[in-house]
Amino acid sequence: MPRSFPVQISPSMMCANLWRLEEQVRQLEQAGVDTLHFDIMDAHFVPNMPVGLVMLEQLRAHTQLPFDVHLMVENNDFFVQKLATIGVQQISVHAESAVHLDRTLALIRSSGIMPGVALNPATSLDALTYVLEQMDFVLLMTVNPGFAGQQMVPSAYRKIADCRAFLKQHAAHISIEVDGNVSFEKIPRLVAAGADILVAGTSSIFHKDGTLPENARRARQVIAEGLEMRKEMPLAR
Ligand code: DX5
Ligand code: ZN
Repeated sequence: MPRSFPVQISPSMMCANLWRLEEQVRQLEQAGVDTLHFDIMDAHFVPNMPVGLVMLEQLRAHTQLPFDVHLMVENNDFFVQKLATIGVQQISVHAESAVHLDRTLALIRSSGIMPGVALNPATSLDALTYVLEQMDFVLLMTVNPGFAGQQMVPSAYRKIADCRAFLKQHAAHISIEVDGNVSFEKIPRLVAAGADILVAGTSSIFHKDGTLPENARRARQVIAEGLEMRKEMPLAR
């Protein structure tokens, strides 16, 4: 049965100009992006802390766009409870930090939020095997987490294709989100390999050489190229 996930664009808000946040969020709404991606880090799981809960709380009051939260923390359950009160639509937790992954995914689901599992580049897809029933999406890191502006790891395309095959083998109706150096040049191959949700940062939506509306239009064009290529790739269809 062919999947019916349209490819989504999720701008990575840690790459936004926080001084011009209102203007940028309005431009992203008008550009028709699908969700806003927020990277919540605790300076322990990864050595950085770009945005915090208060930013999400304040933004929540001003936009209807769904919030896609990517947790890179050690105490996932604490942040899940906080985010549930803020009102977010999807949360991914790293398998590498979630000691009780099944329980944490159930906590997210019981809060009325879509649960996802994030995997570092080197982490095997096998980490998903016994939680497939508990999750709606997998987030594949295509860079090592913690910073924007990095180069994609060499194994990225292969891991996305392997992930699509893995999900097909388990008949799991789960979307694949990719995060890290998702550039205009790389998007066609990422989509062709099976990516459904694109976290767009410094090398696409927030690319310095274009305005947000221009970059969003360009992203849709290269996604369309990738969907054409995907027709030639039986596994990714
Ligand atoms: C990194 C974050 C990404 C990052 C993407 O850990 O998860 O969302 O902001 O930025 P670029 O697209 O510049 O790699
Ligand atoms: Zn992220």
